[in-house]
Amino acid sequence: MKFGYFDDAKREYVITSPRTPYPWINYLGTQGFFSLISNTAGGYSFYKDARLRRITRYRYNNVPIDMGGRYFYINENGTVWNPGWSPVKTELDFYECRHGMGYTVITGKKNGLKAEVTFFVPQDYDGEVQQVVLTNESDAMKSFSLFSFAEWCLWDAQDDSNNFQRNFSTGRVEVKDSVIYHKTEYRDRRNHYAFYSVNEPIDGYDTDRDSFIGLYNGFGDPQAVLAGKANDSFADGWAPIASHYKKITLAPGETKTLVFILGYVEMPVAEKFEADGKTINKVKALSMIAKYDTPAKVAAGMAELRAAWDKLLGILNVSTPEDKVDRMVNIWNQYQCMVTFNLSRSASYFESGIGRGMGFRDSNQDILGFVHQIPDRAKERIIDIASTQFPDGGCYHQYQPLTKKGNADIGGDFSDDPLWLILSVSAYIKETGDWSILDEMVPYDNDMSKAQTMLEHLKVSFYHIVNNLGPHKLPLAMRADWNDCINLSCYSDTPGESFQTYTNPKFKAEGGYSKVAESVMVAALFTYTGPNYVAILKHLGKDDEAKAAQDAIDAMKKAIMDSAWDGDWFLRAYDANGEKMGSKECEEGQIFIEPQGFAIMSDVGKEQGTDLKTLAAIDERLNTKFGLVLNNPAYSKYYIQYGEISTYPGGYKENAGIFTHNNAWIICAAAYAGQGDLAFKYYSEIAPAYTEDTSDIHKTEPYVYGQMIGGKDAGSDIGRPGKNFGQGKNSWLTGTAAWNMVAISQYILGIMPDFDGLKVDPSIPAEWDGFKASRQFRGATYNITVKNPNHVCKGVKSLTVDGKAVDGNVIPASNGGVHEVIVTLG
Ligand code: GLC
Ligand code: GLC
Repeated sequence: MKFGYFDDAKREYVITSPRTPYPWINYLGTQGFFSLISNTAGGYSFYKDARLRRITRYRYNNVPIDMGGRYFYINENGTVWNPGWSPVKTELDFYECRHGMGYTVITGKKNGLKAEVTFFVPQDYDGEVQQVVLTNESDAMKSFSLFSFAEWCLWDAQDDSNNFQRNFSTGRVEVKDSVIYHKTEYRDRRNHYAFYSVNEPIDGYDTDRDSFIGLYNGFGDPQAVLAGKANDSFADGWAPIASHYKKITLAPGETKTLVFILGYVEMPVAEKFEADGKTINKVKALSMIAKYDTPAKVAAGMAELRAAWDKLLGILNVSTPEDKVDRMVNIWNQYQCMVTFNLSRSASYFESGIGRGMGFRDSNQDILGFVHQIPDRAKERIIDIASTQFPDGGCYHQYQPLTKKGNADIGGDFSDDPLWLILSVSAYIKETGDWSILDEMVPYDNDMSKAQTMLEHLKVSFYHIVNNLGPHKLPLAMRADWNDCINLSCYSDTPGESFQTYTNPKFKAEGGYSKVAESVMVAALFTYTGPNYVAILKHLGKDDEAKAAQDAIDAMKKAIMDSAWDGDWFLRAYDANGEKMGSKECEEGQIFIEPQGFAIMSDVGKEQGTDLKTLAAIDERLNTKFGLVLNNPAYSKYYIQYGEISTYPGGYKENAGIFTHNNAWIICAAAYAGQGDLAFKYYSEIAPAYTEDTSDIHKTEPYVYGQMIGGKDAGSDIGRPGKNFGQGKNSWLTGTAAWNMVAISQYILGIMPDFDGLKVDPSIPAEWDGFKASRQFRGATYNITVKNPNHVCKGVKSLTVDGKAVDGNVIPASNGGVHEVIVTLG
């Protein structure tokens, strides 16, 4: 069952019912100011950091769901409604929500009155613009009142949600003309405030939540709206809000447009106040308001936003036999990559924005799907991330985007973290050909006095693995690897201990984690990632270092084959007792997905046919119609030696859920191994556009990936299997976005930036006749036509650039221009 449709020409998903199976959201803003907006206008805004600089308040996991947002209320002769249906939930005569690239348009109609609201964050602007267009479509005069609504968060979202003894007394606002300012703590240590404005005189306002809503009412029946009149309330502590009140009369056919702005301002300390020393200096706010105070200016801002996205999405554009592939590659997957680049795993409807900032591994992986869009921003981010590394190559697992400092409470010792830096730096060089990133001086632990070149950071990253091997010469598993929930040193038996940070006394003397437990996943990630480091060293003429690094990679491959090949697939780990994890010998959890793809892609044991054997085992044991589960059989009890993974009921999350991020690695590996049909099968099982028809089962947005889909085992432990199989969770902020962008564009369609140029090596369904793509790369544009006359999956028979044959399948980087590339498979 569907709840809308794709409008590809406009790059929008059009939602036609407000009762989606879960709030379906969009992200506004890509630079400093961000808003989340659901299809009923729920959500919240923040500046740069969802935890430390929250602008509007949001209550997660509310009853009913998705309460709180920016709301417009209309009261026409006692009929009260919202253009987005919620929170009043008056049945509308028409409802539509269009989520587009950086904007959302919500339209509602009731009794001949139409309200169309466009929400967007303009380019280079710290605010959300909301244009409300009201049209009287009836034959009679209409008089009604319009109320806006936003609830301020007292800046630090964490503190705001629990420090009530203080916060109920600190809230402060100012009202001047049609602008309501939120200035809590501005008097003392803060130099920022927020405002909510409208471009016309108003008939009243409210700034105190209890006056506007009423202590015993809710968002769905605010007292002031029901009364049809604002109170002009002035907040003094408690919960400051901003609500404008306006009386409107429209003749038949008449339209009225109002522009509201929810903005954020930072002031230099010396200029914080007006001459009286206490009134806030409004100069910046007023100039922000002036920038979008007419419909014409709003239209110009929207046009600028569209142009920015035209440019971004013009870099890679494909035309394949599947329109679902085209809409993922050309529109939604790239869009999601921008969002994950900006927000890592911090703020969504599942990530509360108070839990974590940017992740070292997460943000490095996000680069892979984003780097072609704005390489300069990718570079800046890579440097920020690398700055939270330690001199020995270890690193803070997370950091706060506002301070760019590592989070000490989470700390480090995640065994996979350093390797992702090698991958992101390589991706940056491959995209841009800009080797100078290696010369950048980058601090350790944010301390510039300890800065070293980025190349040195790569070296310590590489050797952090080599220097931390266990008894089988495989990398130590430490607190966790990519799978946060495989915690082989935790041995926790007390509720509340964090599986990732708790140090069991047993391993205290050894430095906090077992020196026996080893990760095969990290071993395979090392053999997959390492060759990039070798290529970089060779490029720099450091042949001895390159040879040493290659030797370490070869030794790792040998160690994997000696100790981690289980006969039909690769093991997952050795636990702290030296026992195998992810082996046929295990009672449960016999096969895991994570090491397999990387091992296949680095040819570990290829001469013994490990690649095809492993793919066959994965297909048999892990595949389902909704994607590949993470492990099988699911754990049905708590294994203290494995940690968090076995705390999840089977079929969910890391315990046999369909954790879509790692599905991409198998899609890449199948494509790499020449199995284009298989790769495409796995791709189409999870790509959101393919889940649209089953939105009632999938629940989350059909235009973006989520972190997890309920696996085949979901509910089986309670005798109720099947119900949640295929159900999505944790949409938007997931490494799946970047990795599936890589999987479809670089491995399946095979357009892969390499150090020396643009490689074209498709691995597609045999039935395809071919496809077309256009790719801007290092200043040139390549119009690529792939022909598949013999209906193979993989194998480039010939490649011509502007009619001239090229040896091999790498298009050498050229100096600009537009080039016609013909690739024939066979
Ligand atoms: C989450 C985390 C990511 C981790 C994954 C698997 O998506 O953000 O860092 O790799 O879970 O545990
Ligand atoms: C990741 C995992 C999740 C785990 C968390 C711990 O997000 O997906 O299952 O609880 O990390 O930080």
